[in-house]
Amino acid sequence: MHIDDALRARKSIRAFRHDPVPLDLVKEILETASLSPSGTNVQPWKVHVVAGEARQKLIEEVLAHRETSPADAGAEFTRVSKRKEPFLSRMRKLGKDMYSLLGIPKGDQAANWRQWGRNYEFFDAPVGLIFSVDKDLGPMGFVDIGIYMQTLMLVAKSRGLDTCAQGAWNNYWSVTRRILDIPEEEYIVCGMSLGYADETAPVNTLVSEREPLWSFASFRGFD
Ligand SMILES: Cc1cc2nc3c(=O)[nH]c(=O)nc-3n(C[C@H](O)[C@H](O)[C@H](O)COP(=O)(O)O)c2cc1C
Repeated sequence: MHIDDALRARKSIRAFRHDPVPLDLVKEILETASLSPSGTNVQPWKVHVVAGEARQKLIEEVLAHRETSPADAGAEFTRVSKRKEPFLSRMRKLGKDMYSLLGIPKGDQAANWRQWGRNYEFFDAPVGLIFSVDKDLGPMGFVDIGIYMQTLMLVAKSRGLDTCAQGAWNNYWSVTRRILDIPEEEYIVCGMSLGYADETAPVNTLVSEREPLWSFASFRGFD
């Protein structure tokens, strides 16, 4: 698959079929993604992969915790700093488009809560990934993890699989750390669903827009 085709075909999938993904294929995707660059080649990515009973246990524990306790967000690192423009408008647009496809009316808090909870079921994807990184590496470790995740998503797409990166998983990092036995020395940065898209689900028709080049790039010294 040409890299541009993979980039254009990849999008966040929020409803998966139950079809399992063979372990060898998951391993191949993760290994290929490790061709990603990292600052001074530290290769700090740690990936905790769950399927079957391990996946089910993680889901059950996080959902049970979520029913009774507030999110852990912010206790380890600040996921969302003060929301400001132009980011706020982009977030709102995504939310509006997604909830409209899901048929959830604005202000329906209960339905919102349930839908956000789908993150913690990996949107039914048979494979869940949790990414962690050594705390000592600071912000550059987050950069490296992000690059690895994007490479992984493209490699998965090139092999006919779909993904959704899920920052939602760092809302309940304390439960995830306990269940997956992730050391205190590592930040739980993000989660990801991996599997085959349910092509019949309206939410998967969501197309998120991109800002024009001029809004984020500046050029100097070309003439
Ligand atoms: C770091 C990161 C965290 C994300 N967290 C979530 C999440 O928790 N739940 C979710 O449904 N989508 C999540 N997304 C998906 C984004 O909403 C999505 O990438 C964005 O809207 C662009 O859409 P696209 O991926 O379809 O191109 C996340 C994406 C990234 C890169």
